Amino acid sequence: MCGIFAYLNFHANKERRHILEVLFNGLRRLEYRGYDSAGIAIDDSLSPLHSTSSPPPLVFRQAGNIESLVNSVNQEITNTDLNLDEVFYFHAGIAHTRWATHGEPAPRNSHPQSSGPGDDFLVVHNGVITNYEVLKETLVRHGFTFDSDTDTEVIPKLAKFVFDKANEEGEQTVTFCEVVFEVMRHLEGAYALIFKSWHYPNELVACKRGSPLLLGVKELDQDKSNNHVFKDAHFLSKNDHPKEFFLSSDPHALVEHTKKVLVIEDGEVVHLKDGGVSILKFERRNGSSRPASVERALSVLEMEVEQINKGKYDHYMQKEIHEQPESLTTTMRGRLIRGGGSRKPKAVLLGGLKDHLKTIRRSRRIVFIGCGTSYNAALASRPILEELSGIPVSMEIASDLWDRQGPIYREDTAVFVSQSGETADTLLALEYARENGALCVGITNTVGSSIARKTHCGVHINAGAEIGVASTKAYTSQIVVMVMLALAIGSDTISSQTRREAIVDGLLDLPNKVREVLKLDEEMKDLAQLLIDEQSLLVFGRGYNYATALEGALKVKEVSLMHSEGILAGEMKHGPLALVDENLPIAVIATRDACFSKQQSVIQQLHARKGRLIVMCSKGDAASVSSSGSCRAIEVPQVEDCLQPVVNIVPLQLLAYHLTVLRGHNVDQPRNLAKSVTTQ
Ligand code: UD1
Ligand code: BG6
Repeated sequence: MCGIFAYLNFHANKERRHILEVLFNGLRRLEYRGYDSAGIAIDDSLSPLHSTSSPPPLVFRQAGNIESLVNSVNQEITNTDLNLDEVFYFHAGIAHTRWATHGEPAPRNSHPQSSGPGDDFLVVHNGVITNYEVLKETLVRHGFTFDSDTDTEVIPKLAKFVFDKANEEGEQTVTFCEVVFEVMRHLEGAYALIFKSWHYPNELVACKRGSPLLLGVKELDQDKSNNHVFKDAHFLSKNDHPKEFFLSSDPHALVEHTKKVLVIEDGEVVHLKDGGVSILKFERRNGSSRPASVERALSVLEMEVEQINKGKYDHYMQKEIHEQPESLTTTMRGRLIRGGGSRKPKAVLLGGLKDHLKTIRRSRRIVFIGCGTSYNAALASRPILEELSGIPVSMEIASDLWDRQGPIYREDTAVFVSQSGETADTLLALEYARENGALCVGITNTVGSSIARKTHCGVHINAGAEIGVASTKAYTSQIVVMVMLALAIGSDTISSQTRREAIVDGLLDLPNKVREVLKLDEEMKDLAQLLIDEQSLLVFGRGYNYATALEGALKVKEVSLMHSEGILAGEMKHGPLALVDENLPIAVIATRDACFSKQQSVIQQLHARKGRLIVMCSKGDAASVSSSGSCRAIEVPQVEDCLQPVVNIVPLQLLAYHLTVLRGHNVDQPRNLAKSVTTQ
């Protein structure tokens, strides 16, 4: 949901062409976060007119995706003869890719947003300013005029107001950082911001509250030390070593430049100036709050550039579907104990939970909370958690829990499931659960994310970077982690040991089974060809595979833009049966588990009404499921019942992928969606 990026080179000659390319590439890496408009701001040439101060920057903004921005910038460069070879020894550029919240995608609503004529202050923003209307009224009263429909525009205007006021009052030395602090004091909502101003050439200030932001540092001379724990406030103290700084909404745009990063915390203001970094934060002292320096250490990104490239695949979604055997292996790495027998039973070890298992076992209730695919993954894991823990497990869609202010108690364990770890609805629910005293457990893919940091404990799913907006490999890894969670909680119960050991064996073999089911790729492409012109697809599932029905339908609708609905098969006769005729395609999940015979009667009832069926069944069952009428059968390998959703979702992911490609839609950036929804 919007990506912000900045690049500052210090004591390092860089051509304008290079600076533009770094900014554009940063945006390309962040594009999955939002892609309806984009913009950048770079420095103009120093002309004789501006011999004593910096000239106003060049601002480019465009509706559409990053490539539309690149084309329009190239066009403008040609029209204005801007010199791409011009070399900058220092330069600070900022960039933004947008997912519209306030105002349609249009150049005037794109970022950087400006303080007005002269572009004294420019801002890129990820998040939402909730009190922007009040701020706008005040600024209008002070003579500011507004050009956009965005909430963001108040920010650069407020910066100019603060700056002008300080100068009127004779505070000649007001620093860029002080201006931003003052602005920040007035902002409500969630934000990550980067400020650029020609009053402060070659400086950038960034701050955040609620939305993610990272700083990356690359020293261009010989790097002698990997240990950047500095004792003073300027952890990267001012020095003349050539270096590059990067600010980004997520690590994907940093990893190709540097692995040395700092995750900026809420309330912090980061000032890049003269080759140094200073971090300040409000501190309450003697009843008043004042900025104080903060000591921080750089950490090392655990991510490889290959993870964020498409490799041999055409699309990220395709790559991520096909790498599931590997991502599942990584999720389980170091967490399965392959013992056997009573002396050393096969078990799981979740390092992040071991100190909290007793508390979880004493819970009166476990509440799963998430949105979209993450919610579905939790739903798939509910039955095994109930079975092995004996604790009631309830399901909450994060926004609904918050809307209802549903009851959450001290005796509850609230489990927050989120790939990105930044989803605003889930974060709000987390704050709410914390206030109510529940033990908060996170299940997330993103180390250092807000959910990872704000939960009391948790498990990283370690599925690797997921870039396709439609979540695939994170879903299967989430299920595996939650099955491991169930095993860990139930590990003190002797009566379920045989069952638990069978599940551990199933987990160990799961990557092979997923490899096997991926061989259905061509078959699913053929099926997609058959369904290409359909208006709708229903998916029926129950038990462990109710979640598969919901998730399969979600995949089809979000990427192929075909209506699709996942339905609990037990509810079929209470309404959905009315839709059944010989035209509407219906997928039924009928793999072998405790619900198999019930699904067989569902298939018979659908056959009796001439339903057009696609049945997913266990290997060897194709003939029996089609005995009562014709249908297309998809045979999948049978695994432990609680792991079957991991296998069963794969053909539906492939179907959604191929349907999308055949229907000519954007696979990785579905219409109107964003990967990380950081607004409510
Ligand atoms: C950790 C290390 C891993 C190392 C392993 C072996 C990290 C991120 N992980 O993995 O590199 O190989 O030990 O010793 O350094 N947490 C939350 N909320 C969440 C997710 C996690 O609070 O949403 C906490 C956990 O409670 C734990 C920490 O983050 O304290 C790391 O979690 P996780 O990566 O799952 O732990 P390990 O698998 O033990
Ligand atoms: C968005 C994504 O809607 O957020 C979905 O497009 C995702 O793919 C959902 O499932 C929840 O995101 P997260 O990061 O909290 O799992």
